[in-house]
Amino acid sequence: MSETKDAGTKQPVASGAQRGSDATARRPLGVMAALPDELGDLVAAMRAEGEVRTVTHGQRDYHVGTVHGAPCVVTLARVGKVAAAATVSALIHAFDVAAVVFTGVAGGVGREVQIGDIVVAHTLMQHDLDASPLFPRFEVPLLGIARFAADASLAEALAAACENFIAQEGGALAERFGTARPRVHRGLVISGDQFIASSAAVNALRAALPDALAVEMEGAAIAQVCYEYGVPCAIVRTISDTADVHAPASFSTFLVEIAGTYSSGILRRFLQGRG
Ligand code: ADE
Repeated sequence: MSETKDAGTKQPVASGAQRGSDATARRPLGVMAALPDELGDLVAAMRAEGEVRTVTHGQRDYHVGTVHGAPCVVTLARVGKVAAAATVSALIHAFDVAAVVFTGVAGGVGREVQIGDIVVAHTLMQHDLDASPLFPRFEVPLLGIARFAADASLAEALAAACENFIAQEGGALAERFGTARPRVHRGLVISGDQFIASSAAVNALRAALPDALAVEMEGAAIAQVCYEYGVPCAIVRTISDTADVHAPASFSTFLVEIAGTYSSGILRRFLQGRG
């Protein structure tokens, strides 16, 4: 095991198209989270598996190596849509990732979505984007799209990894963390540059977007950038809170004590299927 660090590296790797005849090169998967606790043991698992090259680019560290047999570039986006868009753009341009997976926590919005459940996004949208009356509310101006689809097969593989994780560890998780036995949901995830922490705010989101299952601060930005560059993406979120007045405390506890267990368990199963 060894590690190299290329601080400030500005040299992108060759893109898939530029590599041309080098058909044997396997393009890596980009794996992202906002905060360190949301990444679980992924970087440690990469280090345990072999050499890790860490490239610093735009004030973020990108760890290049193999995790659970799959070539990956692992990084932290930090919080919010701009941070997420900048980071996924670097994954695409500087690291030529074949696809992007984002893992982390979210607030539950759907009435049936409880703390400890998992939501795999089928579609994503920015709940705080509103250029009306010039463009319809929620629509990305000039792109003409409000809802971005996750890649169907990537999302299904991620959901299968979640189902497997819950089948094997759900009972123990519920006992350990005092939650109900977790369930896996698939559907709409909404993103905005706000931490939602009141009944009024979450009810307003429910009224505007009745099919929303979870709210967070990065997913739709990643989905938009991936759409624009034709890169498949999938987003998985564990529910840390219900976006009400209890959300700050619930989020903080869940983040530190539980989020990593979910991300590690889900990503191990997902990556082993790709290795
Ligand atoms: N991520 C986790 N909980 C959240 C909430 N309540 N609002 C926005 N993002 C979140």
